[in-house]
Amino acid sequence: TEILLKIAFLSKRCFNPGNFWHITDLHLDPTYDQSRSPEVVCASSGKQPAANAGQFGDYVCDSPWHLINSSVYAMKDILPDPDFIVWTGDDTPHVPNEDLGEQKVLQIISNLTHIIKQVFPSTKVYSALGNHDYHPKSQLPAGPNNIYEQIAKMWQDWLEPESQELFKKGGYYTEKLLGRPGFRMLVLNTNLYYDQNKLITNMDDPAGQFSWADQVLTEATNNKEKVYIIGHIPPGFFEKKRGKPWFMAKFNERYLDLIQKHHSVIHGQFFGHHHTDSFRMFYNSKGSPIGTMFLSPGVTPWKTTLPGVVDGDVVTFYLNLTYANAASGSWEKEYRLTESFRVPDASPDSMHLALERIANAQWYLQKYYKFNSVSYDLTECNYNCRVDHVCAAREVDFGMYEECLVKEGTAAIYGGFLSLLAVAASLVLANQ
Ligand SMILES: *[C@@H]1O[C@H](CO)[C@@H](O)[C@H](O)[C@H]1NC(C)=O
Ligand SMILES: *[C@@H]1O[C@H](CO)[C@@H](O)[C@H](O)[C@H]1NC(C)=O
Ligand SMILES: *[C@@H]1O[C@H](CO)[C@@H](O)[C@H](O)[C@H]1NC(C)=O
Ligand SMILES: [Zn+2]
Ligand SMILES: [Zn+2]
Repeated sequence: TEILLKIAFLSKRCFNPGNFWHITDLHLDPTYDQSRSPEVVCASSGKQPAANAGQFGDYVCDSPWHLINSSVYAMKDILPDPDFIVWTGDDTPHVPNEDLGEQKVLQIISNLTHIIKQVFPSTKVYSALGNHDYHPKSQLPAGPNNIYEQIAKMWQDWLEPESQELFKKGGYYTEKLLGRPGFRMLVLNTNLYYDQNKLITNMDDPAGQFSWADQVLTEATNNKEKVYIIGHIPPGFFEKKRGKPWFMAKFNERYLDLIQKHHSVIHGQFFGHHHTDSFRMFYNSKGSPIGTMFLSPGVTPWKTTLPGVVDGDVVTFYLNLTYANAASGSWEKEYRLTESFRVPDASPDSMHLALERIANAQWYLQKYYKFNSVSYDLTECNYNCRVDHVCAAREVDFGMYEECLVKEGTAAIYGGFLSLLAVAASLVLANQ
């Protein structure tokens, strides 16, 4: 039933930027008005009636201002002084382009920028563009344009001068994390790899972002930095829809190459876009886990000590929308990764172990599945559901994903077949 906020906690041992919030997919719908009749409560519901509209929202609508306000203040309440905030985009509602326009999009981004600044005035924010942060939606250009220019101005307090210049050109940038030596934040504009983006179809390296990132990561290796990557649209497949990728195939491959080449300095990847709570594993050619990408659900609180760190952990908070509308909006802890999946931390090795548990034990699978939708979907994760979720988390590569579907599918059928044989055998025995 819910909306999530995520906070991430870095290790206390290696380095003390300590803790950060990850917020994503706020999707403000300024038209939301619960006092109207259900068909017209919000523009983002399309023709669907908002039957349970309350001040915190309705499942067929994007976020009312009240929900966004509540989530930002909840962050302030739970962790008032994070070392930084990661914000991975998608600010505007799911409505046709004709209902928005460039000014409207910029206004909404400015509105959300404003509340984050107001509530966290002295906190550094690393912010990535989402596919809904442009007009027309998803058509983010691989070069300078008015929207990148205006957003760079809006975010100038959060951007070093050099980052501002880069952002205006391609919507990406990098900085030493909190200006400290040894740590780096890489903010990507992966909307340039989105298969819905018609502007980049014939390009090899939109806005030169891959070659730039390769160079940044090469230098990071030389300087022995620890790098965190954030972005909006993730590579790989959507776990709730079989065979649904986001990146164009050629860009998915390049992204994987980039991670495989530089995994030793990449200590975490944080993305959004799915509106579900999941993760993606990266493996080397020998099959050893080398990295994890964490996908945060919309308006999501998440606490984690970053992967790759000895005492890393993840704690997720949620708002029960039904209860909030009926009584009051209190954000509660949903789960702690290490507790729920019985792993020591959030490192790639531990996440691999968690994935194996999810893949092989119905109890873990069901728990993961509940968290995936933040309790919105409490149905059983059945045979096909298991294959879809396990393969999406395990294989970011298009070909390997297809192989996984076959392998996991066949394995399960074969398992079922064996148990049928066992029943047949016991019947035979009984008959003898
Ligand atoms: C943001 O928009 C909401 C309505 O959608 C409005 O109530 C609020 O005052 C705005 N805040 C700013 C800072 O513009
Ligand atoms: C935003 O949330 C704070 C804290 O809960 C509350 O005091 C304030 O009235 C809220 N503002 C709006 C516009 O809902
Ligand atoms: C959310 O709140 C409603 C109403 O109080 C309750 O019936 C429901 O069980 C709650 N859901 C969760 C996941 O806690
Ligand atoms: Zn979104
Ligand atoms: Zn998106």
